[in-house]
Amino acid sequence: MSAYDQIADIYDQLFSDDKSLQENCELFDLLNWKSGETVLDIGCGTGLFWEYNTPEIYIGLDPSDRMLANFAAKFPQAEGCLKHCKFEDYVGAGADLVIALFGAASYIRPSAVSKIAKLTNPGGRYFVMFFGPGYSPVVNGATNLSIKHFMGSEALLPGKQTVFNNYTIVTGAVSAQNAQTEPDSAAQTDPDNAAQTEPDKPANFI
Ligand SMILES: C[S@@+](CC[C@H](N)C(=O)[O-])C[C@H]1O[C@@H](n2cnc3c(N)ncnc32)[C@H](O)[C@@H]1O
Repeated sequence: MSAYDQIADIYDQLFSDDKSLQENCELFDLLNWKSGETVLDIGCGTGLFWEYNTPEIYIGLDPSDRMLANFAAKFPQAEGCLKHCKFEDYVGAGADLVIALFGAASYIRPSAVSKIAKLTNPGGRYFVMFFGPGYSPVVNGATNLSIKHFMGSEALLPGKQTVFNNYTIVTGAVSAQNAQTEPDSAAQTDPDNAAQTEPDKPANFI
């Protein structure tokens, strides 16, 4: 059972206030998905991307059965595109646009974070959101759960860092010529040990 299974049925309600909806609009303006771009959505949850976009070719992956079931209930046409797995275990096609929205990337084991660039098609881009420094996820504050996540992993993915409210977004592009993006400066010997895990801190509410 995945930790998010326990909150899947209230997840959308936690983010249904005006401020969250406004934040979603700002985010999707920034993401600027273009029709025709194929999408790999890491930690797709209950299908937020589909609420604002209608991709023709899409893969959504998530280790939570319940989050995926709620996604499929809202968007039955996406059901065949959903994969039940952690990103660390994903073996499959890449995409023109690889995304991890609203902190989903902070749940990935640090040693797997650089795989995001490898799954981005030549000529494609990635847009990956990590929890910002000091931020404690809303889901922890709204429940008694303390879902394990990793802080500081944004440093493990090459690209431009942008602060967006409580998140750090890393954006990068893969060259169409040689599909190389990853400067060695981002590499660490043992990222899983280098990253700070934050399972048990008291929650900050936004
Ligand atoms: C904060 S929610 C974000 C959901 C969605 N991206 C959104 O913006 O509404 C984080 C999601 O990441 C998923 N997740 C947790 N661990 C993961 C992992 N190792 N690989 C991929 N997704 C993971 C959770 O199940 C959850 O659905």
